[in-house]
Parts: sequence; structure tokens; C-alpha cells
Amino acid sequence: MSQEFEILAAAGQLDAAGLVAQLALGERQPELSRPRVIAAMIASADGRAAVEGRARGLGSPADRAVLRELRCSVDAVLIGPTTLIDEHYKTLLDADHRERRLDAGLSAEPIAATISRRLNPQLSKLELFAQRGQRIVVYTESDDRLEATGAELTISRSKPGELTLANTLSDLYANHGVGTLLSEGGPTLLRALAAEGLIDDFIFTVSPLLVAGSAPTLLSGEPFEPPLGLTLEQTWRSDSFLFLHYTRWQ
Ligand SMILES: NC(=O)c1ccc[n+]([C@@H]2O[C@H](COP(=O)([O-])OP(=O)(O)OC[C@H]3O[C@@H](n4cnc5c(N)ncnc54)[C@H](OP(=O)(O)O)[C@@H]3O)[C@@H](O)[C@H]2O)c1
Repeated sequence: MSQEFEILAAAGQLDAAGLVAQLALGERQPELSRPRVIAAMIASADGRAAVEGRARGLGSPADRAVLRELRCSVDAVLIGPTTLIDEHYKTLLDADHRERRLDAGLSAEPIAATISRRLNPQLSKLELFAQRGQRIVVYTESDDRLEATGAELTISRSKPGELTLANTLSDLYANHGVGTLLSEGGPTLLRALAAEGLIDDFIFTVSPLLVAGSAPTLLSGEPFEPPLGLTLEQTWRSDSFLFLHYTRWQ
């Protein structure tokens, strides 16, 4: 490994759409028989993934713009059930982004997918589940009922022990036409994706805050032994926020 240091000089400026265009999300991986998975997370400079139980306190307009552009560019968004509830998910996109997707021949919104062994009844109370035109796919091994008031809800039930992220991604790919998927966390879901080797791109925003306390870090769960390696591909900066694009370990 090199012991030389490259100066990361500023080379012009981009808006959020330009940044996401540099990820070339159109380049899919047909050999995988699953969507290309882009994970996007934000943490404070001391590594915490939430402030007062939510990621929102870490973000900025630039960070939120990148997230919306990512959502605008993918076929589906995968969000952990705890994140859906804690972050009070409403709409995924604003009217401008919906129009851009329609102009590009896509559905107005990406599919919202989640995976949960038990079904928390709070999910159906989310505003996301009331959005007309929003497609939601829930992967579970629970027999419990879950209803959506306005969204188009599909529940995919597995036998106990057969609910895996690999099966979930294969189903999204084969039965819902999902070629690109954005995972918005949370830390438990992110660790599970990483453990199954299912992250292709990792967009990590470093927020210029020190949080301390006991909030989760980017990944929650048992340690990886040995730790998983990443390759740094691209970096961007907006004010004091740093945006890092990693690809998966080899
Ligand atoms: N900083 C950021 O970018 C960011 C992003 C997202 C969230 N957050 C924060 O993170 C916190 C929530 O994260 P979290 O880690 O507690 O929850 P989470 O990852 O959103 O959801 C965890 C749940 O996902 C389900 N799950 C995960 N992997 C699974 C698998 N392989 N098979 C089946 N089900 C699976 C399980 O549900 P069941 O228990 O029902 O099986 C698990 O309890 C909130 O504070 C939120 O604000 C931060």
C-alpha cells in the first residue's frame, strides 16, 4: 500500500444531479441477477449515525439534495423498518423529481421496499403508506396483517428462516424490474447487506458535527472479523460536508 499522499484539489463545481451522474448508476451488473445496490448513509465526524434518534439532525440542504437525486435515479429504495418509523417517512420525491422521472419514461416514484421478520403495525400508520401512486413491497416471514391506505402494497411472505436479503434482492430484480436499488439504512440493515456481500457502492457523507453519546454508528451488530475493506473512488465537498464514494471490497 502506498505511503504517498495525493492532494485532493478542487476541480470545478457540480450540483447534486451532476454528482449523482458521476456515479453512472445506469451501468448495471446483469451477471449478478440482482440489482446494483447503492448504500447511502451520513455520520458525524465522530461516527454517530443519529442525533436525538434521527439522521436528519446530521444533514444539510446539499446532503438532502444528493439523497433526492439518488432516489430519483434508482428503481427502488430499500429502508429498514425501524428507520421508516423513526424517520417518519412521507414522500420519497418532490414534484420536480417526479416529473423528471416521468419524462425519462420511469414510474413517478421508485418502489419503496422494506424487510422485517416481524411486522410492526406502526408501519401502516406512516404517511408513506397513504401516498397514492407509491408502490411499497414488504418482505417478511410474519403472518400478521399490514395495510396501506393509499399506496399500492405488496407483501411477500417467506417461510420462517428463509427471509434473506439475497432472496429479497433477487425477487425485486426478477419480479419488480429493479435494476438499481438505493439502501438508506439503518445501521442494522446496512450491516446485514454488507455481511451478505450485497453493497456495490457506498455513498458516505461525513457531517461536520461531534455528537458523542450512544447513538449507533454506521453499522450495528456483531463485528466483522476481519473487517471488510473498501476502495475509495471519488470525493466531493460542500461547505464542511464531505461526500465519499466507496466501492465494495475485493
Ligand atoms: N445516519 C444515517 O444515514 C441513517 C440512516 C438510516 C437510519 N438512521 C438511524 O438509524 C436508526 C434506526 O436504525 P436501526 O439499525 O435500528 O434499524 P433499521 O436498520 O432501520 O431496521 C432494523 C430492522 O430491519 C430488519 N432487518 C434488518 N436486516 C434484516 C434481515 N437480514 N432480515 C430480515 N429483517 C432484517 C429487522 O426487522 P425485524 O426486527 O422486524 O426483523 C431489524 O430489526 C434510527 O435512529 C435512524 O434515525 C441513520
